[in-house]
Amino acid sequence: MRILLAVLLSLMLSLPCAAEPIVIKFSHVVAVGTPKGKAAQRFKELAEKYSGGAVRVEVFPDSTLYKDKEEFEALQLGAVQMIAPSLAKFSPLGMRSFEVFDLPFVFDSEEELHRVTGGEVGERLLESLEPRGIKGLAFWDNGFKSFSANRPIHRPEDLRGLRMRIQSSQVLHEQMRALGAQPQVMAFSEVFDALRAGVVDGTENPHSNLYTQHMHEVQSDVTISRHGYLGYAVLANLRFWESLPWAIRAALERALAEATSYANGIAAKENAEAIARVKASGGTEVYELTAEERAAFRHALLPVHRKMADRIGRELVEAVYRATGFDPAAD
Ligand code: LMR
Repeated sequence: MRILLAVLLSLMLSLPCAAEPIVIKFSHVVAVGTPKGKAAQRFKELAEKYSGGAVRVEVFPDSTLYKDKEEFEALQLGAVQMIAPSLAKFSPLGMRSFEVFDLPFVFDSEEELHRVTGGEVGERLLESLEPRGIKGLAFWDNGFKSFSANRPIHRPEDLRGLRMRIQSSQVLHEQMRALGAQPQVMAFSEVFDALRAGVVDGTENPHSNLYTQHMHEVQSDVTISRHGYLGYAVLANLRFWESLPWAIRAALERALAEATSYANGIAAKENAEAIARVKASGGTEVYELTAEERAAFRHALLPVHRKMADRIGRELVEAVYRATGFDPAAD
């Protein structure tokens, strides 16, 4: 009798119980105190609240679960249900179109970026992920990138010969080549150690990433150049997303819409605070390019647009130019 009870009890425990929450593992590579880190946390809180506890979101920040490339594989295999990778990391998926966001100087402001991410182009890009088993859900902002190195960078030629860490984007590769630097693709989690050890000489990132990864502690110079943008797409495993009951999906969509407004509302401020902290730390020289120096970078980097247009897709590049008002002929 006792054995029978024990068997019954263990059977009951192994059966899926109606009250068991749906678990969403959400992996990302940055620190908790960044725009993406905070937005992921906000999404978790709202998703759990709006689903009445029917969903539990487990956020894994700082590459604790997966690094850059592995994240995509984990998402496609269903080992995690959500990720929010940088738009510059889609080429290992065989998606070149997202590299349109890496074109240097194509966005002058967040407002211009939002005309793309919030418009038809953004919608088309997210939809294009479905044949890869990925549901594109939203775009989250980070910010404009600055260069950092162990030498002052005021003019394009100052980057000549430097080994510069980049994300896995061919456009970023060409960007560094156009400046005479040697691009080196590396996972985000490895950048600090590589800078410290001198494996690479410098990098580019928005200030929130620079500061929270302590990169400024191993870089003597940061140049505010705003030469390119780094933002994210929030993605889910398509099969998982489509298997969700309608009401749960609606709760998650509501949570995501609010987390997206939150992310895009804090990103610029977070980056401004991060560079203020870098300055206050006293060990790193922070320099902002003059208008004339910025124009020299723009001039040096315009050929990247021409070189990469076919790879990205001319029609897409032109749609982005129309949305932002970027004129490749104006130099
Ligand atoms: C990087 O690798 O530099 C960034 O994509 C990290 C991130 O997710 O912001």
